[in-house]
Amino acid sequence: MQATAPMVEIRKLWTVFNTPEKRFVVHENLDLTVNQGEVLSLVGGSGTGKTVLLRQILGLETPTKGEISLLGQPVEQGAQKGAASRIGMLFQHGALFSAFSVLENVAFPLRELRTLPPRLIREAAMVKLQMVGLKPEDGDKMPADLSGGMIKRVALARALIMDPPLLLLDEPTSGLDPESSDGFVTLLRSLHRDLELTVIMVTHDLDTLFELSTRIAVLADRKVIIAAAPKDVIAFQHPFIHDYFLGERGQRAMELLREYPFAI
Ligand SMILES: Nc1ncnc2c1ncn2[C@@H]1O[C@H](COP(=O)(O)OP(=O)(O)OP(=O)(O)O)[C@@H](O)[C@H]1O
Ligand SMILES: [Mg+2]
Repeated sequence: MQATAPMVEIRKLWTVFNTPEKRFVVHENLDLTVNQGEVLSLVGGSGTGKTVLLRQILGLETPTKGEISLLGQPVEQGAQKGAASRIGMLFQHGALFSAFSVLENVAFPLRELRTLPPRLIREAAMVKLQMVGLKPEDGDKMPADLSGGMIKRVALARALIMDPPLLLLDEPTSGLDPESSDGFVTLLRSLHRDLELTVIMVTHDLDTLFELSTRIAVLADRKVIIAAAPKDVIAFQHPFIHDYFLGERGQRAMELLREYPFAI
């Protein structure tokens, strides 16, 4: 592993789905580099392949063509054992195991490894619970008894249980009310800083986007058309970017740009 290797490097990636009706190209010659320590946000219309790309980085899906490497090492197909310990993932529709308590949910990936005694697993899970702002007594609650914001926090604690250097977030604040969303963004910001994480995040929420991103990558025309600082992305001439940041959303984007001049 080279110290200077990018956290993630994607080269000439193609994703093609063949359905009975048609051949469907999602990604075509897509390139993207994510450096260590960044919070890179991925934006793009619905169905442009953001979730698929995250799953490919995780090694859960294999691109049709092209390469993905993690700290200079190629991501292997089905490489969950290797990759999973280096990547934490908060899934878009990330459900907790409903029959497991909060603590059992958080501990699950560690328990699956079968290398640590139960007492240490429990302690590690407790540390992560605290890290995401939950109380020790929340550990005994069941998922059905949690608020939306708490569910996201538990899922985040589970994603962090292996101390991964890379965290993937798919719509981390969707479905949260504005207050819980703000709280979650604040938590993500402090975890990014304290744990020296690299973060790749998919979000449609402009507040989340501008409060956290060091760079924004835009997925359109089946590739990444620009990956740059937010102010440069907004200024980039492309119909999708124009529409995405136009009007009310655009006004809000400009306000946020003034508020958050990328001090991360
Ligand atoms: N296994 C699969 N077989 C066929 N098509 C698939 C498969 N997985 C994803 N797709 C299609 O690939 C496209 C990209 O899906 P993906 O879930 O990555 O979109 P997305 O950018 O995350 O969208 P959203 O913003 O709505 O979450 C979609 O049209 C989806 O239907
Ligand atoms: Mg998605």
